[in-house]
Amino acid sequence: MTDSVREDIDITYFTEANSADVVIERMSGTGTPRMAKVMGSVIRHLHAVVKEVEPTQDEWMAAIQFLTATGQMCDDRRQEYILLSDVLGVSMLVDAINTRRPTGATENTVLGPFHVENAPTRPMGATISDDGKGEPLVVTGKVVDTDGNPIEGAVVDTWQTSHDGFYDSQQPGIQPEHNLRGVFRTGADGRLWYRSVKPTYYGIPDDGPVGQMLRAMGRGNTRPAHLHYIVSADGYETVTTHIFVDDDPYLTEDAVFGVKESLIRTFVHRDDPVKAAELGVSNPYWSVETDFVLTEQS
Ligand code: BEZ
Ligand code: FE
Repeated sequence: MTDSVREDIDITYFTEANSADVVIERMSGTGTPRMAKVMGSVIRHLHAVVKEVEPTQDEWMAAIQFLTATGQMCDDRRQEYILLSDVLGVSMLVDAINTRRPTGATENTVLGPFHVENAPTRPMGATISDDGKGEPLVVTGKVVDTDGNPIEGAVVDTWQTSHDGFYDSQQPGIQPEHNLRGVFRTGADGRLWYRSVKPTYYGIPDDGPVGQMLRAMGRGNTRPAHLHYIVSADGYETVTTHIFVDDDPYLTEDAVFGVKESLIRTFVHRDDPVKAAELGVSNPYWSVETDFVLTEQS
């Protein structure tokens, strides 16, 4: 007995055993080869999951309801599907595949949902803390190529949470718009320096289906303290990255798997009133040094 009942025409009917093959076979070949590869792989892996898990009808309906609720949570300010991809490690995997770089070049990490396009351009040395709340931090570093040469005209777009773990866009009316955001442009020496406040760890949004899923899996929603950067320069690959605070208790539990060892920086607590006055911060203050190493565009 073959899968084909009517041998005069070449039809294979669906069975539990041949399920993925039958669905894949139905593709007509008029799509692109890439579409055929992607959908073939999605169907094969999806059927394999179902065969391994053997969901009940109720469990499968719960999965569909979860995906429905995830979509319903989305609007132009909240993207629950990206959050789902983040907490499942898929965002970081796609990012890793698309940003393979030589050793020594600054590694990418996840963009996250809190970047804004129109952050203010600020002069080198400026503070990005418009409300002045939190422990002062001085960030210094350079933007260089893989031979260590300074890159002039590099654009460094940075954003971070406040001292109590919220982005300005999460606290309209509490934080000024564009608090803790700034865009800096390097001079001929490639040097970057600005003033800010030390960020803390914070929870990613957990009031939707992704939060429910994390709780059901016994997982937390915390991200370790970090500063976000997008560093770009003509002729170089753009780097989307963070630096992480070395003493953060959540470095090994990042809810979105964004931590890479090369991105952890030592934040030094300094008690030096003279230097603090020179830098325009109150004493004591924190300092961190970080270079961004860009690769040439191929
Ligand atoms: C963030 O670091 O801003 C972030 C990244 C992924 C999900 C949520 C927040
Ligand atoms: Fe963040």
